[in-house]
Amino acid sequence: MCVIRVENLKKSFLLDKTVIHAVNDVSFSVKEGEVFGLIGLSGAGKSTLVRCLNLLERPDSGEIWFDGLNLVEQDDSVLREKRCRMGIIFQHFNLFMRKTVWENVAYPLRIAGKRTKELAPRVDELLDYIGLSAHAKSYPAELSGGQQQRVGIARALAMSPRLLLSDEATSALDPVNTELVLSMLKKVVEDLGIAVVLITHQMEVAKALCDRIAVMEHGRIIEENTVEELFLRPRHPVTRHMIRGFDEDMPLAHLTELTSAPVYRLGFRSHSVTRPLISDISRRFNVDANILAGNINALVGGDVGYLVVSFEGEEDAVRGALNSLYEDGVEILKLDPANGFNNGDGINVKEVVR
Ligand SMILES: Nc1ncnc2c1ncn2[C@@H]1O[C@H](COP(=O)(O)OP(=O)(O)OP(=O)(O)O)[C@@H](O)[C@H]1O
Ligand SMILES: [Mg+2]
Repeated sequence: MCVIRVENLKKSFLLDKTVIHAVNDVSFSVKEGEVFGLIGLSGAGKSTLVRCLNLLERPDSGEIWFDGLNLVEQDDSVLREKRCRMGIIFQHFNLFMRKTVWENVAYPLRIAGKRTKELAPRVDELLDYIGLSAHAKSYPAELSGGQQQRVGIARALAMSPRLLLSDEATSALDPVNTELVLSMLKKVVEDLGIAVVLITHQMEVAKALCDRIAVMEHGRIIEENTVEELFLRPRHPVTRHMIRGFDEDMPLAHLTELTSAPVYRLGFRSHSVTRPLISDISRRFNVDANILAGNINALVGGDVGYLVVSFEGEEDAVRGALNSLYEDGVEILKLDPANGFNNGDGINVKEVVR
């Protein structure tokens, strides 16, 4: 079931007489139990979009459907109530430093008018859930970053939200704590089946958690897909830059030095990652594949991998080999040297086989 649906959302700011279209005609929806990732470079409009979702920022136009209502049309009292059904976690945790861990988690329940006696079992349960019962009386400053963010998660879950909004929740953490918080979030999604909108610039985070990803640039969603498809067929230069397809392994300029033959990026879906497709076509078509780069990404929906290769062999044989790979479900992109390999903005590729 669809938890939130956004239609044609717009929000702009006036800065020094210039209009900044921070969110420019954005539409998407997220279902129960689904983690929807929003990635994009700094200034793309991700935080503005998330602030609009719970109406902390009032959009200029568009619709936000949540709990059967278009939030944009609701008055403040309805909004306050609906906001309770959206938990939010932040990059810098935003905990009350002068309150104990227990009081931080209790805070949203107190705001909702619950008495201590009523809310105590819920707070105890949440602290137990995040594994911090022993720290109930500690203050945030006495906890590690990862522990503080887990308190942030518990606080966000206090009102049993249907939607969790996460804005760079792991960006301020070291790798170990990132891992801890990620597994916590994963558990939340599995246990509670809520919907999550997750902003991150860390591809590792998106890979580990997201079912679908939208890439934002200049306020727009420029590409949206399942994580698997996004890794296999990154269409937009910004996406390619974000997932750093092959340039993380090898400077692209080197590819042209390595071979004068056409260079292809082969994307393998989960079911074909482990099959010996390359040695198979080499044998069948009598072509040699030079593997120039490659890796495998473990994603929520299964593994996807890619290889950057060039082929040696008769032209017809190479074409036959590519067709055979295509029929086996391999995504094939041809690097296009005419447009320059390295334009500083990712890689220019042209799809050859469709
Ligand atoms: N209150 C504001 N007033 C004026 N401009 C704003 C305001 N909030 C955001 N902007 C502008 O809107 C654009 C989008 O900003 P936003 O913070 O949403 O980007 P972001 O994708 O979250 O970036 P980051 O990855 O750095 O967090 C930026 O150009 C920013 O300067
Ligand atoms: Mg931001």
